[in-house]
Parts: sequence; C-alpha cells; structure tokens
Amino acid sequence: MIPTMAYEHILVEVEPPIATITLNRPKVLNALSPELIREVTAALAELERDDEVRAVVLTGGPKVFAAGADISDMADRTAVEQLNRDQTGAWASIASFSKPLVAAVSGYALGGGCELVLMCDLVIAGDTARIGQPEINIGVIPGAGGTQRWPRTAGKYAAMEIVLSGAPVTARRAYELGIVNKVVPAEMTIEIAKRTARQLAEKPPLALRMAKEAVLRSFETPLTEGLAAERQSFYFLFATEDQKEGMHAFLEKRKGAFKGR
Ligand code: CAA
Repeated sequence: MIPTMAYEHILVEVEPPIATITLNRPKVLNALSPELIREVTAALAELERDDEVRAVVLTGGPKVFAAGADISDMADRTAVEQLNRDQTGAWASIASFSKPLVAAVSGYALGGGCELVLMCDLVIAGDTARIGQPEINIGVIPGAGGTQRWPRTAGKYAAMEIVLSGAPVTARRAYELGIVNKVVPAEMTIEIAKRTARQLAEKPPLALRMAKEAVLRSFETPLTEGLAAERQSFYFLFATEDQKEGMHAFLEKRKGAFKGR
C-alpha cells in the first residue's frame, strides 16, 4: 500500500525508501502560489522526519513541471506587501532539505519552476522540457534564486543568456549547460527519476546527508574552509555504524545493509 498524505495543491506518495511530491495545479500549469509552496515545504518537513524515506522525487507530472510563481497572485502587489509577506523567503527551506531531492521535469519549468529545479540535487529531464527564467518579460527578475544559482551552476554567460533574454532552453541545451543530469524520453521521466532516487536510497543515509551538505557548502565557502569542513564530516562518519558496516561488507565481499546509524 502507498500511504498518501492529504494536501490540496500537491500530491505526496510515500513508497519507502522514496517519496514523490507532485505539484498539482494543472489548470494553471502548476503555477506556484504561496499556498502550494507552503504545502511543498510542509511535506518536505514531514519527509525529513520520516526515517523510512531516504530520497525524494519532485515533479509536476507528465506534462508540465511549473510555469513559475503565480502571476495572478502577484500582479497587483505593492513592493511593501511583497517585502512584508516575503513571497520567496519560504522557499529557502526547500534548498536546505537534507535528503537527496531528484527533479523529474517534463514540459515547462519556468521562472520559479526553474528555480525549484535549481534547488534539487539531480535533474532528470524529459525531452519535452523547456527550462528558463522569463521574469524579464513581465518586468521583474528571478526572485527565488535564479540569478544566483544559474551562474554558480552554468557560469556567467549562460546565466546572462537565460536571465536577460527570458527565452527558455530545451532539455538538451540544459544538459549541455550542466543543469540537467540526464535527458530521457518524456514518458519515462518520472520512472527514471524514481529509479535514480531508489538507487540513492540504498546508500548510507548519514553519508548521503553529509555528502549533500558538503557539496552545497562549496558554493558558500572559501576552499580552505570547505576542505576543513569536509574533513570534519569524513572523520565524523567513522562514529557511525554504517561506516563499520560499509567497510566490513566490502572486505567480506557482500552488500552493506545500512541503517542510518
Ligand atoms: N501564473 C499564473 N497563471 C499561469 C501561469 C503563471 N506563472 N502560467 C500559466 N498560467 C495560466 C494561464 O494564465 C492560463 O490560464 P487560463 O486558462 O485561465 O487562461 C493557463 O495557465 C494555461 O496557460 P497558457 O494558456 O498561457 O498556456 P500556453 O501553453 O499557451 O503557454 C506558457 C504556456 C508559455 C508557460 C505561458 O503560460 C507562460 O508564459 N506563463 C508564464 C511564465 C512566466 O512568466 N513565469 C514566471 C513567473 S514570475 C516568477 O516565477 C517569479 C519568481 O522568480 C519566483
């Protein structure tokens, strides 16, 4: 049986050791309303606490990932309202989710949809994916990380092209730019993302968590600091049962059974 948590704007399927969050506002191409983002962050908080879930797939379903923040919710806002409600501040907790987050992207991933993708750890894109930051066309700029994560991932010139032109790129071009791990036939996107998540879920959870943290830290710290933190995490993992299990399983030529302890 697949337990399913109840939300209004997303679907959450828990199939241990993975879970799948599906953005679910198809009539507006999964436009990311504040309510939808609140539900995504609440679901991730729940999955963070669930020890049986070791990796999560984030998708918009087979047709569209998300066409961006909900323009009808923003069009008439004043700057002061935007500041006070801090529309995109709440998204930060998505980027700090500690378990691997695999994006399954078909169709449009635009604006905030693209920024959600940039918060994921691995990206599986269907060949229908169209990824970009069209905010410039409606008088604003990306507001949930696009101007910062694009250059850190794809470099200055790709970032300028994407953010200044507003034109989306194909899945293949996104792959060449390094923000997509794999391009697959559209109808297989979710299945391949789930398979990828299941493969990650077999790894020792504490090592996975520290590996994710260490890679993300590299975007924030000078090299010497990042290397020192990496060494601390490496040494810390020798305090875990999973390290003993992993290394002895190797020596005994068997598969390790990891418990997250
Ligand atoms: N917000 C609200 N509604 C949206 C939406 C959005 N971001 N994107 C699409 N919709 C709605 C449309 O208004 C339309 O609703 P109706 O049927 O009631 O008219 C429905 O979804 C279907 O959309 P289209 O008819 O436009 O579909 P299309 O296939 O012709 O075009 C599209 C698809 C090119 C993605 C087009 O919908 C589009 O350009 N969407 C807006 C993309 C955009 O500008 N995103 C950035 C938003 S700002 C942002 O994200 C800020 C941030 O950084 C956080």
